[in-house]
Amino acid sequence: MTVHKNTTADDGVGNVSAAHVAEAYQTAGGRMLHGKIEDALRSDHLSALKGKVNLIVTSPPFPLVRKKSYGNETGEAYLKWLTSLAVPLADLLTDDGSIVIEIGNAWEPGVPVMSTLPLEALLEFKKTASLNLCQHVICHNPARLPSPAAWVNVKRIRLKDSFTHVWWLSKSKFPKADNREVLNPYSDSMKNLIRTQSYNSGRRPSGHKISEKGFLTDHGGAIGANVLEFDNERALPESMLKFTGTKWDAKYRNYCRDHSIPAHPARMQALLAGFFIKFLTRPDDLVFDPFAGSNTTGAVAETLGRKWLGVEASLDYVQGSRGRFEEFQSDSSESV
Ligand SMILES: C[S@@+](CC[C@H](N)C(=O)[O-])C[C@H]1O[C@@H](n2cnc3c(N)ncnc32)[C@H](O)[C@@H]1O
Repeated sequence: MTVHKNTTADDGVGNVSAAHVAEAYQTAGGRMLHGKIEDALRSDHLSALKGKVNLIVTSPPFPLVRKKSYGNETGEAYLKWLTSLAVPLADLLTDDGSIVIEIGNAWEPGVPVMSTLPLEALLEFKKTASLNLCQHVICHNPARLPSPAAWVNVKRIRLKDSFTHVWWLSKSKFPKADNREVLNPYSDSMKNLIRTQSYNSGRRPSGHKISEKGFLTDHGGAIGANVLEFDNERALPESMLKFTGTKWDAKYRNYCRDHSIPAHPARMQALLAGFFIKFLTRPDDLVFDPFAGSNTTGAVAETLGRKWLGVEASLDYVQGSRGRFEEFQSDSSESV
């Protein structure tokens, strides 16, 4: 394992001030780059990967009302910026590759009105790179704290915002995908049905005709729906249990604390990354996150035996992300 010193200038609040991209660290399965994605896309690191990335999984910076420390763009500028990345990112994909983008809801400043900017950005991104929308998936987190607080908790005139949109896009209309890789455990009633080998066949009020034997074969689990909820561990396939929240993030948070590095405030759920990596790639495929943050995507990809590449603009977040990998756990040096 090689750890390279990073020479990129940082202004102390995580902003990269030089148009410079450097390898921060490597693991057995991947590489983390420190720099802005717009620079990385022009660098040798990424031009060598054109047509070779099987899956991009990412949650882009949010279109913020006010600028955050890592310098998110706002409004029209955000739209233009995200759209400018569409073609170069799509060019990295294999012909059967996919892009999975998680975008939360956004609200207009000071009023109880939703911003349509995330949707506009998604549509522009799709159109600019001529991508297909394979499926819209909702990632529901019923345990999320009520927000936006002013309208939900205080005035009580809006409902709790409790899901993010996940947009699955691809170059081909038939990208690599296999829903048998992400089966849910059968419900007790389904297990019973398979055991007793009997149920009421015939026509349902909806018009669907249920065949006599169609539901009696044990396929190893139930086909997943396009609403994901990861709060019920009993409903998770065994292969995904290693990514459940507290357990999965504990090492990362401890590493950040021990090295006095701020933990990333907007980490992707490891289960979400794991779900799409299993669904849309095979072992040894290459998974890329252009806004890697704490490198949830890379660490999950490595655990699942995929290769990975991450790009992140903030040096703090790059440094903290080392805590996701075993080889850095006992490393007390601050270098990246
Ligand atoms: C929503 S966060 C991603 C979190 C990540 N999925 C995780 O699990 O930690 C978006 C990330 O994009 C990074 N970012 C913002 N502008 C960037 C740019 N131009 N190039 C690369 N990364 C950028 C931010 O620093 C932030 O960490």
